[in-house]
Amino acid sequence: MCGIIGYCSKNGKASQVIFEDLKRMEYRGYDSSGVAMISDGKLLVKKGVGKLEEVNRKYKLDKIPGSVGIGHTRWATHGGVTQINTHPHCDCRNEIAVIHNGIVDNYQELRKDLIKRKHRFLSETDTEVIPHMLEDEMKRGRSLEEAVMAVAPRLEGSYAFLAISTNEPGKVVGTRKGSPLVVGLGKNKAFAASDSMALAGQIDQLYMMGEGEIAVLTADKTVFFDSTGRPISKKATKPDAVWNDNNKEGYEYFMLKEIMEQPDTLLAATHQDKDVFTAVALDVLRADQIIVTACGSSRYAALVGRYLFSSVGKKFCEVVMASEFQYFAESVSRNTLVLAISQSGETLDVIDGVELARKAGARIVSIINRPQSLLGELSHNVLYLNCGPEIGVAATKSFLNQLAIFYLLAFSMVHSFDMAVDNIRKVSRQVARAIDWNNDVIAGITKEYHDKNDFYYIARGINFAIASEGALKLKEISYIHAEGMPAGELKHGTLSLIEEGTPVLVICPGDFTYKETLGNAIEAKARGARIIAVSDVNNEVYDHWIRIPRVHDLLYPMVSVVPLQLLAYHMATRRGRNPDMPRNLAKSVTVR
Ligand code: M6R
Repeated sequence: MCGIIGYCSKNGKASQVIFEDLKRMEYRGYDSSGVAMISDGKLLVKKGVGKLEEVNRKYKLDKIPGSVGIGHTRWATHGGVTQINTHPHCDCRNEIAVIHNGIVDNYQELRKDLIKRKHRFLSETDTEVIPHMLEDEMKRGRSLEEAVMAVAPRLEGSYAFLAISTNEPGKVVGTRKGSPLVVGLGKNKAFAASDSMALAGQIDQLYMMGEGEIAVLTADKTVFFDSTGRPISKKATKPDAVWNDNNKEGYEYFMLKEIMEQPDTLLAATHQDKDVFTAVALDVLRADQIIVTACGSSRYAALVGRYLFSSVGKKFCEVVMASEFQYFAESVSRNTLVLAISQSGETLDVIDGVELARKAGARIVSIINRPQSLLGELSHNVLYLNCGPEIGVAATKSFLNQLAIFYLLAFSMVHSFDMAVDNIRKVSRQVARAIDWNNDVIAGITKEYHDKNDFYYIARGINFAIASEGALKLKEISYIHAEGMPAGELKHGTLSLIEEGTPVLVICPGDFTYKETLGNAIEAKARGARIIAVSDVNNEVYDHWIRIPRVHDLLYPMVSVVPLQLLAYHMATRRGRNPDMPRNLAKSVTVR
């Protein structure tokens, strides 16, 4: 959450570049944004509340003069969404500016202490302690990097922050602990950013910053230090070209583009190294216990994976919500395999759990989309989704590819990787049909239901997690309350909420769950529910039939989730919401 960018150049137009790079990181937070530049020895700061383009229209962030600067796009944690709380934050003398992603847990003590020593605070943020602490250190004659080295160990919590100072105008200094930070270098230019995607097409060398490391950037030269202040040499990697592709290609929203490209991205999920899958499958089979940890959509993909492991590999695994993982840490041992699932590879709840599990000696295998992620660094083995950048906050193609990876892994347990690849390739054509058949139909259905306040999604067995995923999609982008649950649970409480006209989404493919799920739909209908069914089999009980192609039982989740994504998308746009940037959310959740 929050995108940070620092840039050193020689051309006096750094703010244009910073603004463009912030645009590519806006998915990390979009409630407010700001830029600080050093220009003619002075610090110029402009910032405001709203989406980046709006803030730019008002404050001309991209026109601030200067060759060195920093920029921030915020997802508020400490302090409301106000101009004063927007980053960058400065010291008392307006000589130092800082941007930060993360949370300084001990900011209250630090702030009290700084106020006692006559520092003046303007904002309610945790971040503002940092420029004031740097100010104290620089007053003692320390350079900016020495000040950062002195301050960072006193900050508890997680952070990646960048600082500039008018005393050392050509420089950006950055460090990280718990939150991501990369450094990218091109000819006569140096960047530090939360995300390598922000630097797309601008750099030749990419460096992943390790915990506690410090980078000192100038346009000509960048140097690195470890947390004790010792100079270190780091190995550069080449930036991945695929991750440069992040435009909407004519679609109004990234989400729609990402839904539509799923037949292709699903194929990309099959471009895998069979040996790696065989090795991981062996890890799964050998482990005494398997714990899958993930959040949000990734956890729902894991719930489908649990069925696949059980029915194909005959191996039971537990799926634990990553934010709850720490409460089960005592059960993790050397014989545990932890499977961590995360599109971004950055989700802090997942990283926390994995760190605990590593300490207990567990083996860690991750399923990730983003290359060069923190989670990847912590894992013994990584399986990649290969679906390219996903910019819309709602997970769509990454979810589908997570299902595909679980499918490949489950069949690798029974030496059938190649067959699984063939099946997924075939199902990619069925995903295309599910889109073609339903896009307009679903847009029509939303006309009738867009003013409803509550939706219920039901399904059974391997399809149950698709009900939960469909409900999550609807609520996060259209702001309609929605609940997904196993169809058999409805009668244990939720049925009392069903009244005349309540929409109930029934995921009811013609598989081993069909009869019982249909029975539950009939029970809901008897209480006045309007039944919207996702199925390959029509039935008179349905008020609306969203038709999906017939596929093998274990592949239905891959085709039935797609219409539910479209339903959420059309509902959101009909209600005038921007599905790419739902309120209060961000794509990478790097806070606890
Ligand atoms: O990057 P991750 O897969 O770890 O993200 C996990 C969740 O934050 C994410 O799936 C979230 O629930 C999505 N916005 C759902 O569409």
